[in-house]
Amino acid sequence: MQIVKTIKEVRAIVKEWRRSGLTVGLVPTMGYLHEGHQSLIAKSAQQNDRTVVSVFVNPIQFGPNEDLEAYPRDIEHDMKAVETAGGDLIFHPEPSEMYPPHFTSFVDTTETTELLCGACRPTHFRGVCTVVSKLFNIVQPDRAYFGQKDAQQLATIRRFVRDLDFDIEIVPCPIVREDDGLAKSSRNTYLSKEERQAALVLSRSLKAGHDVIEKGERSADNVIKVIRDVLEKEPLARVDYVEVVDFCNIQRTETITGEVLVAIAVYIGKTRLIDNFIWREE
Ligand code: PAF
Repeated sequence: MQIVKTIKEVRAIVKEWRRSGLTVGLVPTMGYLHEGHQSLIAKSAQQNDRTVVSVFVNPIQFGPNEDLEAYPRDIEHDMKAVETAGGDLIFHPEPSEMYPPHFTSFVDTTETTELLCGACRPTHFRGVCTVVSKLFNIVQPDRAYFGQKDAQQLATIRRFVRDLDFDIEIVPCPIVREDDGLAKSSRNTYLSKEERQAALVLSRSLKAGHDVIEKGERSADNVIKVIRDVLEKEPLARVDYVEVVDFCNIQRTETITGEVLVAIAVYIGKTRLIDNFIWREE
């Protein structure tokens, strides 16, 4: 396993692999890797001859009052995590390598980024799509791996890959959870012991929503109400959003039909956590 910091080095290594006819998978991450990231790396290692993992806390996807400075970082830990999961190369650039002076070109998206996290984080997806397209151009992978935990991000990346003709297969990977149901996230480290316990309300509320859909409920409003009722019983939780949208376009739907994303964002203390499930009609 190798680690490099410059675009030039990644390009040279990938070029050699390509010359030998090897396929390449890319797992973009912001580091502080957990089992969720490792499941993406392992999947890429299964499906490709070589796997590149980018570890880069991307400044342009954080809003002015968000947690850019506080975001957890531990490259030594990440190197071990990549190695164990079967990755071959870490790309760990400095912000100045990715954003040279006078950087003024961005990838912007509409529709899929209007609601959910896009509504309260207005520049977030522009930052995500810009860095992901840069990584796609730097690594030029055959496949790239994204977790369903960030479902709106996944739908948005699928869309810009289609719209802008990137010749890359986007491989979605399921949410990885702790034994008690909490979705794995680097931000879980912000939670105190009491908040960690309170955070279980996210997966519990989604289970309640899922159960009523399984029993035949098809009104999005009713499902939202069931989820909100559970969330509002937890004193440490403050709801940011509970939404039911079609998973392809991320637009609201009144009726639960086709492929639907049920997504929530909830503050537990000062930490904003997201979680979701996708429901597919038989
Ligand atoms: O999902 C993430 O960790 C980030 O948004 C990504 C895709 C690595 C871009 O910085």
